[in-house]
Amino acid sequence: MSSPEEIAVPAHHPGVSDPVYLQRRAAIAAVSADQSCAVAPFVAYTAEEDSVWRTVSEALSILHAELATDEYRVGAAALDLPLDRVPQLAWVSERLESLTGWQIRAVPGLVPTRTFYGALSERTFLSTQYVRHPSVPFYTPEPDIIHEMIGHANALGSPRLATLYEAAGRASRRAVSDAQLDEFSRVFWFTIEFGVAWEHARLRTYGAGLLSSFGEIQEFRTSTLRPFDISVMGQSDYDITRFQDVLFASPSFDVAEDLMLAYFASFGTD
Ligand SMILES: [Fe+2]
Repeated sequence: MSSPEEIAVPAHHPGVSDPVYLQRRAAIAAVSADQSCAVAPFVAYTAEEDSVWRTVSEALSILHAELATDEYRVGAAALDLPLDRVPQLAWVSERLESLTGWQIRAVPGLVPTRTFYGALSERTFLSTQYVRHPSVPFYTPEPDIIHEMIGHANALGSPRLATLYEAAGRASRRAVSDAQLDEFSRVFWFTIEFGVAWEHARLRTYGAGLLSSFGEIQEFRTSTLRPFDISVMGQSDYDITRFQDVLFASPSFDVAEDLMLAYFASFGTD
């Protein structure tokens, strides 16, 4: 793995020509890279970083009332993340441990996909700690702590979603070829990151990518909806740089959960 200072941001990142932001991002990544302690290391977030968190989490919590599936909201209510400041990963980890047996470990940036998925099989979520650029609080081209916590950690507060994530991690470990892992990644993308389901006569989401995106969560109901067919997902392309124009909608979250658990259980066994 490269040193935190060498971790580049994407060319279209809003902070790409802001040296102060890049320095701060690298400093937080350096803290995250310290694996000497068992819990995620403490980060002293600035007032500006807390302000970005507050802006995004307050706006999303209002939208979640209408657009998030019930089971995600069960997890979010149990975890009860603060609205006014960036939470410490160690605090979130301790709470998840008591709720569903999950832990959060800090990483300085993107990790290899096999490492990220594999950790899920041990009820461990690898999370970044830096915050998106303050000029565009509602957008990030890369996972940041807002995506990790609001999208994923909230979900992991739900026993059902926690089991689903673990099942996905176990399946990933059975991917013996890159082609198999590629299929798994596509399914993961269209379900755990961008899954939608009908609930109370509305289309709602349980996907972390939608749940943590202020812009996209308000748009996903206009996407082209395809039937919830996991074999089709596994062969479908996606573009991470723009809103998803195709989503796979299940008739309910219960149906999606059953089909996903069956797929993950049988993945890589034949
Ligand atoms: Fe994610």
